[in-house]
Formats: sequence, structure tokens, C-alpha cells
Amino acid sequence: MDFQSPPAIIDALVKRAQHGFFGYSVIDPDYKEVVSSWFMRRHNWDVQPEWLTNVPQVINALSMSILMFTQPGDGVLIQTPCYDEFAKKTKETGRQVLDNRLICRPDGRYTIDFDDFEKKASDPSARLFLLCSPHNPTGRVWTREELERMSEICLRHNVLIFSDEIHGTWRSKVTSTSICRTSMMRSLRIASSPRRSARRSIVHPCTWRISSSQIQT
Ligand SMILES: Cc1ncc(COP(=O)(O)O)c(C=O)c1O
Repeated sequence: MDFQSPPAIIDALVKRAQHGFFGYSVIDPDYKEVVSSWFMRRHNWDVQPEWLTNVPQVINALSMSILMFTQPGDGVLIQTPCYDEFAKKTKETGRQVLDNRLICRPDGRYTIDFDDFEKKASDPSARLFLLCSPHNPTGRVWTREELERMSEICLRHNVLIFSDEIHGTWRSKVTSTSICRTSMMRSLRIASSPRRSARRSIVHPCTWRISSSQIQT
């Protein structure tokens, strides 16, 4: 499903097109400050501007993360039914899909099979979990408890979480909790630890992600 963009966006695009030059673009230094302050206001999360890296489009960031943090043959955990690019990029990069199939209840609400999630996360090949939060296409806005449980399992099995929160800014009666409130908070607290478990989470809302230098400390 898609919606027509509002006039302000159409006007801005027309103005940009009329400029006539479409080459290199420069990101204003204020932009990272604005993103950082949004994280603080929205998630009470202190993200330093220098941790942020611009990535053109979410799915490119997802592919780059698969390439950076896993090796060919490694297992990548996803929850189907899922935005098709998750499985596609996993296979295209020579990794194997570990599918934690979501359960569709009779009322149409999808839930997580946690026994299966634990089984997949504990697979010796498992390195990365591609979380979709809120979830496309099921529309599930994961509860804080569900996010904490998934984070805890991933932490225990040393599985890195890539959180695609592209749909997290929708205004609705239900507020979406970012995984950074569960997993990343703990990850930041142990960020100075040399242990490998300190590297487990990336949070990537829209086209931004935490740079590898931050999570490799
Ligand atoms: C969960 C999810 N991630 C990523 C995308 C696409 O993002 P991008 O076009 O920035 O790669 C979509 C588009 O519908 C999506 O639903």
C-alpha cells in the first residue's frame, strides 16, 4: 500500500529537479546533530553525531551489514512472512536463511514462536538477526517484553541485531519501542568491554546506522 505524497514534498522535489545538477551531494554538518537530538527526544538514547554514517537507502545498509558482520555460509535469522528483501539479500550474499516463522493466531494477530527463535539463534551458524520493527507485512508493533526477550536470547547466543525501524515513526495509537531501549542500552553499557558480546547491536532507523567503530570498541 502506498500513499500520495503531500504537496510540500512534491514542491521540494520539483525545486530540486529544477536545479538541474544531480551529482555529488553534501550533507550539512547540522544534519547529524538533528538526528542525534531526535534519538534523545524520541528514545532517550545518547547517540553521538560522529557515530552516524549516511547510507543510501535502508536495504543497502542491510546488505552492507550482512557483508560486514557475517561470512559466506553464516546463518542470518529472519521472521517470515517478511519484507522480501531480507531473505533475498541474505541469499544473494551467500549466507543462509534461518527462518523463525511467525505464528498467525485465529484473530489474525501474529506472534513469535520463542522456542523456535531460541533454536534458530542457538544454531552454530547464527551470526545476525534482521529484525523488522514494527514488522512488515504483519503490522505487528512488537511490545517491549517481546523485544527484551528477543534481545536477551540474541545476547546469550552472541547474535548481532540489525533493527530495521523504517516504519517506527508512523503516528498511531500504539507507540513503537525501539530495540535500542532493550538491547542497545545494554550494549552501550558494556561498549567498553573487549568481549565480543559488546558488539551485538546496530540500530538503523531510516537511512542511518551506528558506525562499526562504535560497536567494535
Ligand atoms: C521493512 C522495510 N525495510 C526497507 C524498505 C525499503 O527501504 P529502502 O527503499 O530505503 O531501501 C521497506 C519498504 O517498504 C520496508 O518495508
